[in-house]
Amino acid sequence: MPRITFIEHDDTEHTVEANAGQSLMQAAIENSVPGILADCGGYCNCATCHCYVDDMWAARIPPAKHAELDMLSGAIDANSNSRLGCQIRVTNELDGLVVRLPASQT
Ligand code: FES
Repeated sequence: MPRITFIEHDDTEHTVEANAGQSLMQAAIENSVPGILADCGGYCNCATCHCYVDDMWAARIPPAKHAELDMLSGAIDANSNSRLGCQIRVTNELDGLVVRLPASQT
């Protein structure tokens, strides 16, 4: 199972075992990771699953589509590493992925 590390804005780390095929957001919710709120349930309509993908991983994840970019354009503290956790599909190749969570999602 791919292991994903979520790092809260206060540097608290949560490493979880995810299932290939689920989204990063689902992996976080199933493991009660604080900082991923997922108010819309994964429909790319809230940006409360906002996360920052570490540089070394960004190139290994398919780029954001239009709807995701639209949501991120209105997200608090969005930057070039911003992604929506509900739009990133976990694969075995993402074993070891590290994402950071914004202070706005506490
Ligand atoms: S859960 Fe709402 S945009 Fe990802």
